[in-house]
Amino acid sequence: MDQTDVRPSQALRRLVNGYQVAQAIHVAAKLHIADLLAGGARTSDALAAETGAHPSTLYRLLRALASVGVLREDESRSFSLTEVGACLRSDAPEPVSAWAEFIGEPYYWNTWAHLLHSVQTGENAFGHLHGMNVWEFRADKPDLSAGFDRAMTSLSRQVSAAVLATYDFGRFGSIVDVGGGRGAFLAAILAQHPTLQGVLFDQPHVVSGAEELLMAAGVAERCRVVSGSFFEAVPEGADAYVLKAVVHDWEDNQAIEILATCRRAMSRDATMILVEREVAPPNEGRDAKFSDLNMLVAPGGLERTHEEFATLFTRAGFRLSRSVASASGVSAIEAVPA
Ligand SMILES: C[S@@+](CC[C@H](N)C(=O)[O-])C[C@H]1O[C@@H](n2cnc3c(N)ncnc32)[C@H](O)[C@@H]1O
Repeated sequence: MDQTDVRPSQALRRLVNGYQVAQAIHVAAKLHIADLLAGGARTSDALAAETGAHPSTLYRLLRALASVGVLREDESRSFSLTEVGACLRSDAPEPVSAWAEFIGEPYYWNTWAHLLHSVQTGENAFGHLHGMNVWEFRADKPDLSAGFDRAMTSLSRQVSAAVLATYDFGRFGSIVDVGGGRGAFLAAILAQHPTLQGVLFDQPHVVSGAEELLMAAGVAERCRVVSGSFFEAVPEGADAYVLKAVVHDWEDNQAIEILATCRRAMSRDATMILVEREVAPPNEGRDAKFSDLNMLVAPGGLERTHEEFATLFTRAGFRLSRSVASASGVSAIEAVPA
């Protein structure tokens, strides 16, 4: 019975209980179940022995995941990966495991439990709970910070190919990725365009984990790594400045400050490219609309419509020149100094 065959009340109850599915996938990701099933079907007892989990309870988790299409349950409590579940493998072409590990972490999960506070007050739930923003909170927690960076790296793998297929970075000689995390997106751009020079810019504790990724992508010798704050200064003089999934973390005044910092580092003929989701018209685009709630409760930002990006750019001294959609749902939103 799929969602279309169920009564409205049952369909709604399944949506309400979606949090149970999310947490069950989180636990399977933490236990690396998909990697253990990469070679084929295994029994829940064998998986329990390997993961150190409680055998009969692990079976209950796995059969629940098989009921929603993440796993397949065969004879004798044996499990294998479905096409969807295979995306939890760490070597999947578009891996989701790091994201699943991150979103179920208690500190992050608990933030969503305070969505009501955000909706009633307009305030960021994370700040309300912790008295600081997510970046300050994670700065002295290396495990949580690395978990977030891994989640962002895996999301970048999902969108990089799609964005590179529709937006031509090859017309630039040099590019700065501002708030570029560990460099997964910049590495993909540099790998596609062998004469392009790159600068990866992010917070010190984030870029300290970038070298390995840049080396593995074979682009380290064309990529300078610089740390700092995009509220103060970013590297000057590049042809293009890319901010992927950065501006959506911040409310308008702070987003404008970040863009203005970039503007000060740019020459008149340089190009600014935001890689973000554009909020769709009514009744469409659930990814952007739920990501918007995620921005509300966690970093304290928002997803924006095309028109809202245009206004943001104008207020920061730019003119939006075009928006290039990609198959992944994110767009390259391009602007030039006004
Ligand atoms: C949502 S992540 C996006 C990372 C990367 N662009 C990507 O798409 O995978 C936002 C990034 O902004 C960085 N960031 C936050 N505050 C910053 C600051 N004040 N200066 C520089 N980077 C900052 C974070 O460390 C993080 O890597």
